[in-house]
Formats: sequence, C-alpha cells, structure tokens
Amino acid sequence: MKKIAVMGYGTVGQGVVEVVLKNKDLISERIGEEIQIKYVLDLREFPGDPAEHMIVHDFDTILNDEEIEVVVETIGGTNAAYQFVKSCLLAGKSVATSNKALVAEYGAELLQLAKDKNVNFLFEASVGGGIPIIRPLNTSLTGDHIDEISGILNGTTNYMMTKMFYEGADYNEVLKKAQDKGFAELNPEADVEGHDACRKIAILSSVITNKTVDFNDIYCEGITGITTEDMKYAKEMEMTIKLLAISKNDETGLEAMVAPFLIDENHPLYNVNGVFNSVFVHGNALGDGMFYGSGAGKLPTASAVVGDVVDALRNKGKTIMPVWDVNKLALKKHEDTKR
Ligand code: HSE
Repeated sequence: MKKIAVMGYGTVGQGVVEVVLKNKDLISERIGEEIQIKYVLDLREFPGDPAEHMIVHDFDTILNDEEIEVVVETIGGTNAAYQFVKSCLLAGKSVATSNKALVAEYGAELLQLAKDKNVNFLFEASVGGGIPIIRPLNTSLTGDHIDEISGILNGTTNYMMTKMFYEGADYNEVLKKAQDKGFAELNPEADVEGHDACRKIAILSSVITNKTVDFNDIYCEGITGITTEDMKYAKEMEMTIKLLAISKNDETGLEAMVAPFLIDENHPLYNVNGVFNSVFVHGNALGDGMFYGSGAGKLPTASAVVGDVVDALRNKGKTIMPVWDVNKLALKKHEDTKR
C-alpha cells in the first residue's frame, strides 16, 4: 500500500481527493500497489464529505508518520506552506504542489533540498492548471535552447475578458463568477493585477535558464484598467484584449513581462477563451510548439497534482526535476521589450 497525505482541503485539495478516489484502480495499477490517502490536513471539519475520516488538524501527524511517502501541498501562500513543505522534504517525503507563490519564491531551495534528500519536489500544477508544461520543458525539450515562452497563463482573467468581450459583461460581476467557479485565487487581486501570471512566467523562465528569475523583477500590469468599453473598441478593430505573459531569452539576456495586449483576430491566441490557457514555446531545435488546455479549476489542476504524485511514487528520487541556481538572474530592462 502506498500512502499519501493532502495538506489543505480547499478547491484543489478537494479535487486531488476526488481524482485519487475516482481513478484509484488505474492509479494503483500504474504504481504497482494500492494507493491510499491516509490524511487530509485542514483546520475545518467536513462532515459527510468523502474526506471526513481522513481529516487531521495537526501537521505533525503527517510529518511523523513514516508510512506517508508523498505529501500534496494545496494550502497556498508561502507561510505555513513553506514550513510544512520544507519539513516534509527534510523528513524524506516527496512533495507535489500546485502553489506557484511557493515555487516562485522558494523553488531553488526546495528543489535542492529534495535532491539532497533523494526525494522529489514536483509542481506541474503551479503553471497552466492541467496543461503539462513544466515536465515537457524539463524532459522532451531539455536539449533545446528555449528562446521564447509566451501566452495566456491566468484562467481567471482570461475567463473575465472573454465574458467582457463576447457578452459585454461587467468587470465585477464576472470576477465574482470566476471566484464562484473556483478559478480565482483566495485573494483575486493576484489574478487581476497580473501577479499570478507573473509568478508563473518567472517559474517557466527559471526552468529554461536554470537560474532564479525573481518575479519581483518582471514588469507586471494587470487587467484592472480594462473596461467593457475598451473591449468594444478592440472588437471594432477586429481584435480582442488578452493578458499575456512573455519571456524572451536571447544571447543578450532574458526579458519578461505581464501585460494586456491587443490580439488580432488571425492570431491563434484570439480564440483561446474562457478558463483556457495557452503557452507558445520556441526552441532553437524545436522551432514552434504550443500547449493548450484547461488553465485553472478544481479537476484540471488536481489532474496535474495527481500526475506528480504518481510520478513521485513510481520513481522516488529518480524523477527528473528541474534545477535552478538560487542566485538571481539579472533581467533586461522593460524599456527594451517591444509590445
Ligand atoms: N487563479 C489561477 C488562474 C488558478 O486563474 O489561473 C490556476 O493557477
């Protein structure tokens, strides 16, 4: 029996439990042993919920249980999440997380720690929701020099702008809808101010450069200034507006930014609508590649987390993880970035 624990029973944590229970047989077959979720850490009780009897309130229960091989972190933020993840890795437990704030801030340190302890720190779900992007960059494309990654990396704002564009929906109403659907961050400012997309492009930039790209150094402009009126004008010009995250990595250095862009109706991103994300990748051998799919939400995000759990259980310590230097990469100035 392979036993795991889930820390944080919010939208994504609940999705992870749902996916593991729903796909238990095939997951067990793939890891060669039965999988069991032994604990779910949360401060709340969940009477009548499938996880009711798994709920624990004390992190030490998970930390001190030697049977737990892999821990899922879906708490969010960087306070408790960082302390708990670090403790789990130090105790020789692999960690799978969807927490981009944690990865963007402490990725280098936690990856190194995981390597030192011969376990895994995996975070496919931290970028692009259910779309595989970290693993492909780090495996299939690892022989390429990736010189550009760009696209739509935030489902909430893309959902909002799609509704504003096609239905003339009001900004606040549509933000509320995105929250109700479980796409938005606990503090949706992170979505609408562009910080979420900024952390995601920082993570991808770190993966392709093997250096810490600090999200604080990335020019970041959200969608709070975009009105239905702006959308109307864009439409009249046969264009739409999308929040893009861009990272360009040529011989002169790396430049990255997050900002709303006018997109022509012939551009492939024009039709990336709703909660979908899409990431373009250009490599010096690959040429162009494009990843597309569900960029946020309970089950798509859980799909990526559970994929990491299965990988960690199957290949303890041997899974190929990115590695990036804790020292920060100096970025090119925003003024050089052509929009
Ligand atoms: N709030 C995020 C988004 C969740 O809307 O993209 C997925 O990372």
